[in-house]
Amino acid sequence: MQQLFPEAPADRSDDLSDDELAELYAADHRPPHPHRPWVLANMVVSLDGATAVDGVSGHLGGDGDRRVFRAIRSLPDVIMAGSGTVVAENYGAPTMTEELRAARVARGQAPIPELAVVSNSLGLDPGSRLFEADHRPIIVTSPTSPVDRRAELADVADVLMIEPAEPATTGVDLGAALTALHERGHRVVLVEGGPALNGQLVAEGLVDEWCVSIAADVVGGTSKRMVEGPALPADHSLTLRRVLEHDGTLFLRYTAR
Ligand SMILES: NC(=O)c1ccc[n+]([C@@H]2O[C@H](COP(=O)([O-])OP(=O)(O)OC[C@H]3O[C@@H](n4cnc5c(N)ncnc54)[C@H](OP(=O)(O)O)[C@@H]3O)[C@@H](O)[C@H]2O)c1
Repeated sequence: MQQLFPEAPADRSDDLSDDELAELYAADHRPPHPHRPWVLANMVVSLDGATAVDGVSGHLGGDGDRRVFRAIRSLPDVIMAGSGTVVAENYGAPTMTEELRAARVARGQAPIPELAVVSNSLGLDPGSRLFEADHRPIIVTSPTSPVDRRAELADVADVLMIEPAEPATTGVDLGAALTALHERGHRVVLVEGGPALNGQLVAEGLVDEWCVSIAADVVGGTSKRMVEGPALPADHSLTLRRVLEHDGTLFLRYTAR
């Protein structure tokens, strides 16, 4: 048993600047697999496990979470999210400060990560923020998705077609999607949820790292837990790598064993 905070957090004076925070996360080891990228999942939850308040996550975690969120977003080659999250959170093109862009370029990455949206119904609105200002996200979908929707979205996005894992199913084989991103040269994928997408990735053993912010707040409600789906076999244990704290919110970093 180890006491991580021997002093009251308010007495600590070792606060990290935004740049130091980004450097800290960028220094972590994230080796890609032979045929797929390293997959890092980032989520914020309330102390009682809620992932959303009034349907969005923005009310959770406060300023500290926004800072860690930005630092973590500076890491990947691709940010991946399910269409539920993209619509609920009104996603637009990823943005990055000049400093973070420069650090990415110095590491051999593109200045801004690509955004990959997983969807099979393809109900995304081509007029939405997601496609503004010539931003072309990757739409990860399967041949079972509606042909007319696919054609419409192909005008504003790069459509990545991935077969379902099994013939009788409709959803994208997420392992194959990650392999396709790897073939495009992407080595680190940040998954930003939501719980439905997380659930499938975890069930397939495709999450290498979890960054979880635990907000010092109890919110109740009926939002999903951060992983939705059937109970998992007991071999998904993790190794705790880091604990940060800001205003009572904890920022945990775990890697898969
Ligand atoms: N607290 C946090 O950190 C956090 C993070 C993210 C999201 N959230 C919250 O979580 C909620 C959204 O999460 P959610 O679980 O409802 O949705 P989600 O996981 O974001 O998206 C689910 C959708 O993604 C698509 N999808 C998932 N797997 C697929 C596959 N294998 N093949 C094809 N399409 C696939 C489907 O889209 P189609 O229906 O278009 O086919 C599915 O309906 C929101 O309230 C959001 O605010 C919280």
